[in-house]
Amino acid sequence: MLGELVRWRVVGSRCSASRAKQFFESAVDDVALPNPRFESSYRRLFGDGVAMGDRSEAFFSAFYRRFLANSEIAELFEHVDMDRQAEMLRRSLFTLASFYVLDDASPELRRLAEVHERLGLRPHLFDFWLQCLLDTVKEFDPCCDEATLLAWGWALAPGITYIRIALDK
Ligand code: HEM
Repeated sequence: MLGELVRWRVVGSRCSASRAKQFFESAVDDVALPNPRFESSYRRLFGDGVAMGDRSEAFFSAFYRRFLANSEIAELFEHVDMDRQAEMLRRSLFTLASFYVLDDASPELRRLAEVHERLGLRPHLFDFWLQCLLDTVKEFDPCCDEATLLAWGWALAPGITYIRIALDK
């Protein structure tokens, strides 16, 4: 299974940056991502559009129920508009995944790193964030298996690491 993932990454390194950028900006058909298992799970969960549909709302409500079950985190979100937050998070998944594809931090990723740096978060919270996200993928994606979860982890880990490193500056 790991060999299969490695092959995706190698194929990914041949993927042209502009094609990947096109996918992430438009989220439309026919543009190959280097991580097909992540891409197809993403589409099963959210469809092709960038706008927040019914399926996304249920997904992000479930994600935030998990994430905010931690009282340390719930306090930070006390005054936050959670509908807006869910929409921002959905868009930020593209931001994280495009770092994986493009190997270059977009202005939006740099902005996200600054936002989280200002919050003074402890780095271990990012492990919890990812675990909550993967648990939610498992709950909502009917075809989810171990390889799907690895594919999500692989797609998002570089962007998460970028933000975490900014916390240590
Ligand atoms: C890589 C993982 C994460 C992503 C992709 C992410 C995404 C986002 C996004 C898109 C926003 C809105 C930023 C804006 O105002 O434009 C945000 C804000 C915020 N995030 Fe995260 N987040 C992550 C991890 C975390 C973690 C681990 C915490 C820990 C508690 C956290 C707490 C917050 C808080 C408190 C806000 C501020 C909300 C506000 O004041 O409006 N985030 N995050």
